Amino acid sequence: MCGIVGYVGEQECAEILVDGLKRLEYRGYDSAGIAVFQNGKITVEKSKGKLADLEKKMENGKKPHGNCGIGHTRWATHGEPSDINSHPHGNKRVTIVHNGIIENYKQIKDFLISQGYGFESETDTETVAKMLDYYYDGNPIETISKMIDKVNGSYALGILFRDFPDTIFAIRKESPLIVGLGKNENFIASDMTPILKYTKDYYLLEQGEIAVITAKEVKIYNTEEELIQKEVLTADWDADAAEKGGYEHFMLKEINEQPTAIKTTIAPRIQDGMPYLEESGLTMEMLKNYRRIFVVACGTAMHAGLVGKYIIEKLARVEVTVDIASEFRYRDPLIEKEDLVILVSQSGETADTAAALALAKERGAATLAIVNVKGSRIAREADVVIYTHAGPEISVASTKAYSVQLSVMYLIAFELAYAKGVISKERCMELTKSLMEIPDKLNEALALKERCQFIASRLVNAESLLYIGRGLDYALSMEGSLKLKEISYIHSESYAAGELKHGTISLVTDEMPVIAVATQSNLLEKTISNVKEVKARGAKVVVICTNDVEIGKDVANHLIQLPKMEDMLMPLLAAIPMQYIAYYTAVLKGCDVDQPRNLAKSVTVE
Ligand code: M6R
Repeated sequence: MCGIVGYVGEQECAEILVDGLKRLEYRGYDSAGIAVFQNGKITVEKSKGKLADLEKKMENGKKPHGNCGIGHTRWATHGEPSDINSHPHGNKRVTIVHNGIIENYKQIKDFLISQGYGFESETDTETVAKMLDYYYDGNPIETISKMIDKVNGSYALGILFRDFPDTIFAIRKESPLIVGLGKNENFIASDMTPILKYTKDYYLLEQGEIAVITAKEVKIYNTEEELIQKEVLTADWDADAAEKGGYEHFMLKEINEQPTAIKTTIAPRIQDGMPYLEESGLTMEMLKNYRRIFVVACGTAMHAGLVGKYIIEKLARVEVTVDIASEFRYRDPLIEKEDLVILVSQSGETADTAAALALAKERGAATLAIVNVKGSRIAREADVVIYTHAGPEISVASTKAYSVQLSVMYLIAFELAYAKGVISKERCMELTKSLMEIPDKLNEALALKERCQFIASRLVNAESLLYIGRGLDYALSMEGSLKLKEISYIHSESYAAGELKHGTISLVTDEMPVIAVATQSNLLEKTISNVKEVKARGAKVVVICTNDVEIGKDVANHLIQLPKMEDMLMPLLAAIPMQYIAYYTAVLKGCDVDQPRNLAKSVTVE
């Protein structure tokens, strides 16, 4: 979704703003713009399209000069992508950039029109800019506070007031915004990625706090307009983490980072060979007393929840319901005080997941967030948070975030099963040991790159594909299917292999390749029977299985064999070929792998 950067310091800021916006490209956008204090006036440049279009527009001396400015990448919500609708918005007195949605913008607009204001764009943002102008009385803090009282919705705002040169004002409600603290220079940004190369120190703005930022100091006011002291936080991501590091795409880099990401995520949660989640505040006592578990998330994170359901129910014998957050929040779910609601989110900012969290809290259930981005909304609002330590995930297609979410699910399942007395300490230790072996085994799976690349070359011309599997393999194949369609734009569907005969098999022809995931030994024969059924109808079949089984050419056209581990842990390994196949298919089709069309990395609107 939209991205915000702001800079005030001693350097020329236009380059810094555009460079920062490039680092936020991954959030998804369709237009961009900057506003810079130039000779005491606010100069705006903006353009529909990519940042390259904005840069082109600023060629031949049109780039504004100055040391203070704000920048924005827009993901259209109100009004099509166009130069006019791009941010910044405002007038000569007040100029803003905005991330979020203003729900009552229509009423505000009508009111302002009645007061003589005119509007150029179709955006909700312009109404906030004009409203700030309407309330402006020479005191920006008072002006912003009056605006806050009138505006409903979610927002992060970077604001320039003409009368306060070289000062950025910033505020947030629900949408993320941080203030980066440098030496003789300070920043605002939607997340750390644009400012990591300058500083790791930052303030996390809380709801309603107003930041007043100059090169020399940052002042923060609370909702009562009182000056407050805030804790300085330090990011543990290094600057290289947000670079491609020699890989062609972030997605490929992130696929290859999975062994390290898993190791870093599980190592601090294992003590004396046993899972240890207490450092996050989740005790065995708490765990064993929950009556039921709900896992609520969107997209890939929801798919991690599906794997979680299988393993928690199988190991701990506790009922788990997995919900898509946008369904959960409106279906009046039967959650009660004794239940645990687990929210899974890489960004920690997904609007539907955050709303599901609020609902769970309202109903009195305990809430646990599994989140990658520190200090994000969902992490802050849940009762307990287990951070995954994947580092920044820049590619829109989630890969390493999925694996670390799975690893946390495993730790929860092992600990819960032990806490409930369903498995012995020895078995719990055995499972934990196998989980610790995963990073090494993942390197073996990563070595299958060329094989997957070759298979991708066989799939690239397909119009539609089917993924099939049973049990955990079915849960995983849903993620494989999502990965392929989101980045290669090839339609695909994932189906429970045993359900094919009840309708979907009629789609199968020699033009519909099938990827069968068959890593679960107790279901292998059954899945292979289904594979034979689709093969008999002409489908070219890729089978992903373990390296201890023999599958002939008469069954599979292409085979991908993975190192054999505990059945339960196989999704972690089998995810790799799925990710590679999606990646190489998209590359072969010439797609924009890291920023697929229409998608945003963090979906901060409903
Ligand atoms: O940040 P979140 O994990 O909450 O995001 C949820 C989904 O939008 C996300 O997993 C999405 O499905 C992936 N980017 C797909 O690869």
